[in-house]
Amino acid sequence: MNLQGKVALVSGASSGIGAATARKLAANGVKVGLAARRVARLEQLAKEIHAAGGEALVIEMDVVDQASADAGVKKLVNTYGRIDIAFNNAGLMPISDVESLKTTEWHRMVDVNIKGVLNTTAAVLPYMQKQRSGHIVNTSSIAGRKVFPGLSVYCATKHAITAFSEGLRLEISPKHNIRVTCIQPGAVESELFEHISDNGYRKQMEQLKEQMTFLQSGDIADTILFALQAPSYVDVAELFVLPTNQPW
Ligand SMILES: NC(=O)c1ccc[n+]([C@@H]2O[C@H](COP(=O)([O-])OP(=O)(O)OC[C@H]3O[C@@H](n4cnc5c(N)ncnc54)[C@H](OP(=O)(O)O)[C@@H]3O)[C@@H](O)[C@H]2O)c1
Repeated sequence: MNLQGKVALVSGASSGIGAATARKLAANGVKVGLAARRVARLEQLAKEIHAAGGEALVIEMDVVDQASADAGVKKLVNTYGRIDIAFNNAGLMPISDVESLKTTEWHRMVDVNIKGVLNTTAAVLPYMQKQRSGHIVNTSSIAGRKVFPGLSVYCATKHAITAFSEGLRLEISPKHNIRVTCIQPGAVESELFEHISDNGYRKQMEQLKEQMTFLQSGDIADTILFALQAPSYVDVAELFVLPTNQPW
């Protein structure tokens, strides 16, 4: 499918996988809504995209807040007239052992990683249903397929996204002609580890970089482009993408 002129919302566009995907979408002719909380970062990215001849709109959005998600999507639709792609990518990974009882971090992960995806999905669905077309891409993880010590709550949130994506596909794809893709990356170089407040786990995660070649955010963007560019009758329902030398 040719993406020229399509309209996309990218949540978590201020860094990592979201920023890389927004850049690639724009380079392929997509008008991109750059959504996140750090507006200065989004403005910088929008400037870069405009300088390269692309179209981008800065959208200050906190995915935890339904009103903020609704307003952000409305701003995008008011500007570009429609919404074809929603990349639900915003997420956090402040990992720790359950017995550390970092309950504030648990709740934050549930709020951003699960409720954030539900909120943005709720914001985009009515427009896509009305259009009778659309593509929702949800970011799960290898942690949405397997469980690792120290990542119990993060894995629980990402398993929820894997389950929700499949349920969503079953409910809306045949009925409303809306494709659903669940992407499940392995280790990707980004700012994700910066949220880890447990020093032991943070060090352990940083050491992983010496043991294997992490994927770059652009590698994930490429696989998302593959799913988006497939013919409209093809739904790439899952993408499990790992570093070749990732041992788990
Ligand atoms: N890196 C990996 O190894 C890996 C592997 C598998 C899956 N993932 C998943 O990939 C996704 C992107 O992560 P990343 O690796 O690119 O990490 P990242 O660089 O830390 O990006 C996370 C993004 O989420 C946004 N975000 C956080 N809270 C938000 C909120 N309340 N509202 C709106 N946006 C919010 C951040 O923007 P603001 O702070 O500006 O709001 C940021 O742009 C996450 O869902 C992560 O779980 C990552």
